[in-house]
Amino acid sequence: MRLQLPLPERYTDATPDELEARIHAARTTLGERLFILGHHYQRDEVMRWADARGDSFRLSVLAQEHPEAEYIVFCGVHFMAESADILTGDHQSVILPDLNAGCSMADMADLEEVEEAWETLARTTDISRVIPITYMNSSAALKAFVGEHGGAVCTSSNAAAVLRWALSLGDRADDGAGGTKVLFFPDQHLGRNTGFDLGFTAEDMRIWNPRAEHGGLTDADITDATFLLWRGHCSVHQRFRPEHIEQFRASHPDGIVITHPECAHEVCELADQVGSTDAIIRAVEAAPVGSVIGVGTEIHLVNRLDAETPDKTVVSLDPLVCPCSTMFRIDAVHLCWVLENLIEDRVVNRITVDPTTARWAKVALDRMLSIT
Ligand code: 13P
Ligand code: SF4
Repeated sequence: MRLQLPLPERYTDATPDELEARIHAARTTLGERLFILGHHYQRDEVMRWADARGDSFRLSVLAQEHPEAEYIVFCGVHFMAESADILTGDHQSVILPDLNAGCSMADMADLEEVEEAWETLARTTDISRVIPITYMNSSAALKAFVGEHGGAVCTSSNAAAVLRWALSLGDRADDGAGGTKVLFFPDQHLGRNTGFDLGFTAEDMRIWNPRAEHGGLTDADITDATFLLWRGHCSVHQRFRPEHIEQFRASHPDGIVITHPECAHEVCELADQVGSTDAIIRAVEAAPVGSVIGVGTEIHLVNRLDAETPDKTVVSLDPLVCPCSTMFRIDAVHLCWVLENLIEDRVVNRITVDPTTARWAKVALDRMLSIT
């Protein structure tokens, strides 16, 4: 279990102005040795210091592209920092400012449960035809499992390409044992939305419930399914409902609706566009001046898009949406604390992945990077 200890008072009692001056000074002292990455869901008080912003795919590429940086301070959540550690050199340290910044969706699948599912599937179907695909939002241990079993990682910006690749690995002719299958974890919604995008139907999909015997499925369910979708979800994105889109359209008949693919399928099918956080930003940029755009994703990105796009109005589809509580843990206080420690040559909150896990997880990440 990760545990972030309370910080000293000279951090917790500092005013926003003091923190700003101290972060600025630390950043200047560390210069090129430091590279700060910020995920789009970060607070503005953190994001303003990021050398680069991105979605989870872009951030993993960016981490790799800066071998000169000794310290990569990752303003995001734990699985992103783990991936950055796997993709960067041994001379680099990846730092997560608050160790409690996890992801509740990533925690919905653990290695033991996935191994159990795999063994059950192996007793029911030709396991050589099952390709495991894990969403980036998963532990390094799961990425390693996937790498070792012939699968790949995907993110919300490349899930379609990765699933197409997975399905092309075996011949899909059904000889009674079923064609190629994908075991997709941990986000059922990204798996389902992508499956529909590729032309599959609900008939081709089954939910794998890790809490139920045999995943809650019959042998026939497993044989018939092309997609076995892990029963996991993002609590932030699952809050968006079709009624939110109906209300938005009633108020803004010419408005544009964009949702993240972690939203439920019945929400995404009502949207004009569906995409990762980077894709949402591009869609807002491309919208005509004067547009009113309703967005289904985390509130910090929605508010930043509205502030940074003064000629358009960007609103959350759910007026009561909550922030992602774990992304929210990273604040100026923790950022200042890690940077001031680095000046003293103390690396606090370093995220490391053990070499065996890292080796196989890198196989799965490299497969993703070569597919996309
Ligand atoms: P992106 O891949 O769009 O950055 O999404 C990451 C995430 O955690 C969304 O909840
Ligand atoms: Fe995890 Fe959802 Fe937060 Fe993304 S928004 S980090 S999926 S809990």
